[in-house]
Amino acid sequence: MARIFITGSVDGLGQLAASALVKQGHNVVLHARNPERAKYGLAKVPGAEAVLTADLSSMEETRDLASKVNKLGDFDAVIHNAGIYQVSEKELTRDGLPLLLAVNSLAPYILTCLINKPKRLVYLSSGMHKQADPGLTGLRQDKPSVTYSDSKFHNLLLAMAAARQWPNVYANAVDPGWVPTKMGGPGAPDNLAKGFETQVWLAGGSDEQSKVSGQYFHHKRQSRYLRQGDDVSVQRKFIAFCETQTRIPFLKGE
Ligand SMILES: NC(=O)c1ccc[n+]([C@@H]2O[C@H](COP(=O)([O-])OP(=O)(O)OC[C@H]3O[C@@H](n4cnc5c(N)ncnc54)[C@H](OP(=O)(O)O)[C@@H]3O)[C@@H](O)[C@H]2O)c1
Repeated sequence: MARIFITGSVDGLGQLAASALVKQGHNVVLHARNPERAKYGLAKVPGAEAVLTADLSSMEETRDLASKVNKLGDFDAVIHNAGIYQVSEKELTRDGLPLLLAVNSLAPYILTCLINKPKRLVYLSSGMHKQADPGLTGLRQDKPSVTYSDSKFHNLLLAMAAARQWPNVYANAVDPGWVPTKMGGPGAPDNLAKGFETQVWLAGGSDEQSKVSGQYFHHKRQSRYLRQGDDVSVQRKFIAFCETQTRIPFLKGE
């Protein structure tokens, strides 16, 4: 059985993936934005091993979260699931960064760099990444500006870059479909169960078919993605931006 850490796992797809993995007998550590949400999450996923707290809009709290994860020991898999959608592109964090960029792009970058190397990494992207600006022109160091689509393209680039840097880790991105969570809204047309089964399958790691890396999945099938996701120069541009903003170097190669 595997030990799995999932960000943003007290609600939505994260919570559903956590519950499914616990039911399969895995040890799952949850993550919530604050103690109140942590209590809520433990009540929803009763078999969880623990819950850690951090507001991912804060770089300091996100760094601390990585330390808390490492203090619990090694993990087989990390699912980078937490995300936000309907926020103003102008809303800034206490670090002075766009909220969308901090939570959706920089937090998974920080956690990828600072959490001890797992065997499997799963990044929640979205079909909406196809509307991103593949030139990353919004990633100006002085005044960055990103859309939700841009941030989901960043998740894909991070998965591809991690897969390249750590060839013995399975690192993949997932498009869960448009599903009825708090984020997706009640009218979302896609199947909610199919929205978390791919993450569960990749993180659980027992199926030979899931032992691939640098792929983008939709409903357990490899799917088409923005071709610039494979462009190493675009990946490097994103990584260089994150390194400067966070002052955390990217993964060392093997
Ligand atoms: N739903 C869809 O249709 C859809 C489609 C494509 C991709 N996705 C992706 O799938 C992932 C999960 O989405 P979802 O639909 O499950 O969304 P959700 O229901 O809104 O859940 C998002 C989770 O992230 C947490 N979170 C948000 N901001 C946070 C912060 N600053 N600090 C800590 N935790 C934070 C939320 O905590 P709280 O519960 O406390 O707010 C919640 O647990 C996201 O990455 C999203 O981009 C979703």
